[in-house]
Amino acid sequence: AANAQGAWAATAPRQRGEILRRTWQRMIEHTDELARLITLEHGKPLADARGEVTYAAEFFRWNSEEAVRIQGSLGTAPAGTNRIVVHHPPVGVVVIVTPRNFPAAMITRKLAPALAAGNAAVIKPPREAPLTALRIGELLHEAGLPAGVVNIVPTLSSGDWFDAAVDHPATRMVSFTGSTEFGIVLLKRAADRVLKTVMELGGNAPFIVFDDADLEAAVQGAMVAKMRHSAETCTAANRFFVHEAVADEFTRMFAAAMADVRIGNGLDDGVTCGPMINAKAVTSINELVTAAADHGATIATGGGAVDGPGHFYPPTVLGNVRSGDDITRHEIFGPVAPVITFDDTEQMIADANDIEMGLTGYVYTRDLGRGLAVSERIQAGMIGLNRGAVSDPAAPFGGMKQSGLGREGAGEGIYEFCETQYIATDW
Ligand code: SIN
Repeated sequence: AANAQGAWAATAPRQRGEILRRTWQRMIEHTDELARLITLEHGKPLADARGEVTYAAEFFRWNSEEAVRIQGSLGTAPAGTNRIVVHHPPVGVVVIVTPRNFPAAMITRKLAPALAAGNAAVIKPPREAPLTALRIGELLHEAGLPAGVVNIVPTLSSGDWFDAAVDHPATRMVSFTGSTEFGIVLLKRAADRVLKTVMELGGNAPFIVFDDADLEAAVQGAMVAKMRHSAETCTAANRFFVHEAVADEFTRMFAAAMADVRIGNGLDDGVTCGPMINAKAVTSINELVTAAADHGATIATGGGAVDGPGHFYPPTVLGNVRSGDDITRHEIFGPVAPVITFDDTEQMIADANDIEMGLTGYVYTRDLGRGLAVSERIQAGMIGLNRGAVSDPAAPFGGMKQSGLGREGAGEGIYEFCETQYIATDW
């Protein structure tokens, strides 16, 4: 990566952009093949996998357009003595570490802006799902990316990998998506070398339904916010705060929609939720549900692990959950929805914010003024207002508090992969 980076940074931004755009095109042409690979290695239903390919590819198209728009500035010093020239060179060699829930999109969201800005990358794909990354690497080369600019290095030995990659003197930045727990470990490692970091970490999103909400739209949004990609997303709604006037009706409608979800092999027609990634995930989801039930939660649908083969958990809706119960303090990362009833908006906002995470929030109300006012008070980097999906390459993705540092996508995403240099000059 270090050997290839200088020549890559010296290419014209337009040339880099065109390679990225050709990669977008190749990914779209290979949608079915890539989607099947994603489903085979991750387990999500094919429809979700196809959606992921489109989403992942779009980061290449978006950043092909951003490559030619990295803006600097020219100003005059206040004393009038000299000019201030500001520009944004690439960081250099970037280490990218991504999770298994999006084998394609979590890589492209980082890689595309990194390449657009002129960096080279060393990527650790997820150990459970490295094959999609390798295929994207091939497509990048077919699109004209020079050898060495992207290096995809799967491993089963993460510790050794980090020692080699993060401690290498050529490495200048670490961009990570994964758990807050591991993000903290990586931040400490990166601090030893004063590396630039972007961290996309855990979530625990509140999903708020007011008494004037369109309940059908709220249930549809809840299904997306909870269940997309087999409920294994860090943007997933994790705590459903529902006004007491509509709580019974919402819970009944939501439970009916969850009971309609078909779990099974993601390659099979009609399956809308695949397996969890492994047995441990099923055990920890089931422990949270059992503890909540022991603590007074009612089970509106689901509950209890499904017999094997495979690691399935049934879509589950829990009623009578109190904010602060153990299940509301954990990122569930599975198809379980705890419903908490509220009547006092101020208290509900305080409860929604009473966690260390701040990635996503969702608000449903027909009153747009109230929706915006409440959205502004939720401590989260991204809010879905009458919408169950927030992810968009054209929008800044990232969290507040322990959900992360920095933003990916939108206009700002590319600047995370740039330095800022200022030149004081006279003429
Ligand atoms: C994530 O789960 O880490 C990302 C979800 C998304 O991009 O939608």
